Amino acid sequence: TDYRIASIPGDGIGVDVQIEAQKVLDAAAKRFGFGLEWTEFDWSCERYAKTGTMMPEDGIEQLSGFDSILLGAVGFPGVPDHVSLWGLLIPVRRAFQQYVNLRPVRLLPGTTSVLAGRSADELEMVIVRENSEGEYSTLGGRHNSGQPGEFALQEAVFTRVGVERIIRYAFEVARTRSGRVTSATKSNGIIHTMPFWDEIFGEVAAEYPDVKSELTHIDALAARMVQQPDRLDVVVGSNLFGDILSDLAAAVTGGLGMAPSGNLNPERAYPSMFEAVHGSAPDIAGQGIANPVAQVLAATMMLEHLGETDAAAAVNAAVEKVLSEGVALTPDLGGKATTAQLGTAIAEAI
Ligand code: NAI
Ligand code: MG
Repeated sequence: TDYRIASIPGDGIGVDVQIEAQKVLDAAAKRFGFGLEWTEFDWSCERYAKTGTMMPEDGIEQLSGFDSILLGAVGFPGVPDHVSLWGLLIPVRRAFQQYVNLRPVRLLPGTTSVLAGRSADELEMVIVRENSEGEYSTLGGRHNSGQPGEFALQEAVFTRVGVERIIRYAFEVARTRSGRVTSATKSNGIIHTMPFWDEIFGEVAAEYPDVKSELTHIDALAARMVQQPDRLDVVVGSNLFGDILSDLAAAVTGGLGMAPSGNLNPERAYPSMFEAVHGSAPDIAGQGIANPVAQVLAATMMLEHLGETDAAAAVNAAVEKVLSEGVALTPDLGGKATTAQLGTAIAEAI
């Protein structure tokens, strides 16, 4: 089979790590006998700075014919962050009904956690983030500008369909892992949407008697992720809560340089999009020292989603081999290797 992949390197280190992910995937494709046809798009904040838009007007239409999308990262000094989010990422996630944002984290060999004394087993978890509605909404506005009574309103949208499908997805993932789901809530403070979320969580949980489930307030859950990470495995949360928890989960495991994510349309009616959790890191952009592992692992999730599970397993094994040998580590991992040296080492290990 040949797969047509839309490549959007984006800005900053997004460009550096994308090259390495493509290098690694091309090596996997060669070994496992399938084809990857890459089509590159220059959609980015840099493009926005020049032209005033992140992507062309028919951007979504252009992407719709691809089997999958691999995105580096977007974000450029001087371009406000809401531009990249609302000008590219959110339109793609919503148009292609990528309602699951799956963010697995684990402690890879050769790396250390900021949590002293924790084993890799205790630190393996997956954040299932709602990716299409919730707190990330345009409903609301600013009022009484410049007056003493100035205020801003922001409404969150939680639909029964939207909440139920993400929670159901989390229970399905739990069945393939530890059989435990923890849901992030805040129904004591947020009195309309969160009790609704909790109610639906309870209904779905009743359909999965084999899965252990619990509801935990987001604040306590954040503390638990640091103090008792071994108590967590599959964590499901709304768009905002899932976003925060996944950066925290990445931070307590291998760090942002190691955390991949998939924006999934589980029904496969539309292309899914894969990206590292990290951003464009302007502080290290252009220096050739970004860690490409998160993007390589995002590309691995893409292979799994495409059904190339053997190739995905081989990439994962290559990443583990290279990290445990420790010969080509980037500075964030305590080494002196460049982005390209680490990427090449992984490709060669395949
Ligand atoms: P960031 O993830 O870009 O960087 C945070 C810190 O982690 C920086 O010190 C950076 O050097 C380090 N870091 C991140 N990835 C790394 C890697 N692969 N290897 C080594 N070190 C790495 O987050 P920040 O600084 O908050 O945002 C920078 C820009 O990226 C902003 O414009 C933001 O909007 C954008 N961003 C884009 C995302 C996306 O494209 N999905 C996600 C998050 C942020
Ligand atoms: Mg985030």
